[in-house]
Amino acid sequence: MCGIFGYAGNEPCLHIITAGLRKLEYRGYDSAGVMVYDDAVQVAKNTGKVDDLLPHTHDLSARATIGMGHTRWASHGKATAANAHPHWTPAAAIVHNGIIENHAELRATLSDDNIAFQSETDTEVVLHLVVQALQSQPDPLIAFSSVMRQLKGLYGLAMFFACDPHRIYISRKGLPLAIAAGKDAHLFSSDPLALAEHSSDFMFPADATIVVLERQRLALYDYDGEQLPLPVAQHLQVPTQKIDKGSYRHFMLKEIHEQGLVLANNIHRLFDFAQLRPRAEMLALQKIDMQRVKRIKIVGCGTSYHAALLAAVFAEEQLHIESLAEVAHELRYRRALLNDQTLIVALSQSGETADTLSCIEHARSRGCQTLAICNSPHSTLARTCDALIELNCGPEIGVASTKAFTTTVLIWYLFVLAVRSAHARPLTKDAHNLRKLPLLIDYVLNSTAQIESVARQYRQARNFIYIGRGPSFPIALESALKLKEISYIHAEGYAGGELKHGPIALIDHDMPVLVVAPQDDYFLRIVANAGEVKARDGAVILLGNPKNRELRALSDTIIPCPDINQPLLQAIVCAVPLQLFAYYLALEKGTDIDQPRHLAKSVTVE
Ligand code: AGP
Repeated sequence: MCGIFGYAGNEPCLHIITAGLRKLEYRGYDSAGVMVYDDAVQVAKNTGKVDDLLPHTHDLSARATIGMGHTRWASHGKATAANAHPHWTPAAAIVHNGIIENHAELRATLSDDNIAFQSETDTEVVLHLVVQALQSQPDPLIAFSSVMRQLKGLYGLAMFFACDPHRIYISRKGLPLAIAAGKDAHLFSSDPLALAEHSSDFMFPADATIVVLERQRLALYDYDGEQLPLPVAQHLQVPTQKIDKGSYRHFMLKEIHEQGLVLANNIHRLFDFAQLRPRAEMLALQKIDMQRVKRIKIVGCGTSYHAALLAAVFAEEQLHIESLAEVAHELRYRRALLNDQTLIVALSQSGETADTLSCIEHARSRGCQTLAICNSPHSTLARTCDALIELNCGPEIGVASTKAFTTTVLIWYLFVLAVRSAHARPLTKDAHNLRKLPLLIDYVLNSTAQIESVARQYRQARNFIYIGRGPSFPIALESALKLKEISYIHAEGYAGGELKHGPIALIDHDMPVLVVAPQDDYFLRIVANAGEVKARDGAVILLGNPKNRELRALSDTIIPCPDINQPLLQAIVCAVPLQLFAYYLALEKGTDIDQPRHLAKSVTVE
């Protein structure tokens, strides 16, 4: 989603800023822009990628030493060059992430003398308000803070003023902004990853504060203009190496294939095979008071929510504590029963999902304990929660989440075992299954050719239904989401038992139904559901053990998936072939698999 990068220093900064924007590209965006100052505000913007912006920057000063850039994911107004940031006038320029909720109301307060809006964005309203405030109050800090006090919503933004050309004014509320010192320079970005080649020490200013940034100095103020002590810099190990696709055609395919190794590494990191127990200290158990927990709520969005669905059922069964999964934005805005006996677990690959962050803020204000299971130890979520378990699955670049999903499920499994096994017998059977899991993932990855051929067979399909029961139901939801995201084929996931309550009306020979059918407690029931589809001429694609006689009697089209006698681990094994199925169907359709249309890797608006 939107990303901000800025620089004030001693070196020509245009290429520093465009290089910073490239580091933000993985988040997903649809337009980009850059501003530098060299006796005048100079701006270039364009739709598309940073590469599409570069030809437009040739007229910008190559010796300017202060400036900022932006990657935009359209929220207010279409993806056009006019709506791209920076927005500017000769007096000032602004870049902004987030949404100003009261922009319409604020726009009405602008006296309309000669203000010609160039865009449809909420951001431009802020620009004109500050420029107008500057006319009666020439101190940029006072003008800027007077407008910041009026803003509602979540934002991270930065402004440059031609009347104060060595400084940039930065403010945030709810959305991340990191500041770093470089060589004779200060830099800022919405993502520390973009700053990592300049420094490993980052300051994270608190909500509703203003940082005034210049080459050799930083100052922090509140919205009343009172100076505050600067936040202590945090040293973070943010990866600086360039992540490439290796020999894979897409990041998504590479990330699918990494799963065997990533899961094996996490198993060995978190499970002590000598003691036959999870390593409780590495699963953050010492930071959570489980004695106090009477209710667990597991939240996330999209794929992370599907992991939450699996996690909640397993927790309730194993820990005998009421456990519920909920999409973070729904829990945030209802009158949920939350108190100091509630443990909120936030699942998030990025740790920057605004919906999840605001849910956690809300839960903390109600006294809940909070645990993050997250792939990004330097993210806002990781820094906000009481405890963190890192996914440690390496950067996930493909917008469609794959290895982060399976790793989240594995880590929850180990966390629950750790809670449960504090006084229990050694976990011999679990240890056996954990040893087996990476081998089964490798087995699935070795069946790629078969999966690719089934996908090719269905390249004309316009709709898909996925069904599953028990732990395979969230897998049906997740696999349908994967297919939608990257192939743009309409797909829905249902619990097998739901078919007869409505969706069965959709079944005919044009409706392929993918049946997630591992050999588990639900097997005979899901086979019966597949039979109902077959009886109505639906095309049945089975995911299961190809040696199984019942499955072979139902359909010739079987995507091979081995059995493992543990429901959560079985869900992980089932997810992988269906990630590949979605990938190969998308390949047939020729879509932009790593950066599908309209989607962003990090969804930083509510
Ligand atoms: C997954 O394929 C999606 N791109 C999306 O649903 C994602 O899982 C969701 O936006 C949540 O992201 P997070 O895990 O980074 O919080």
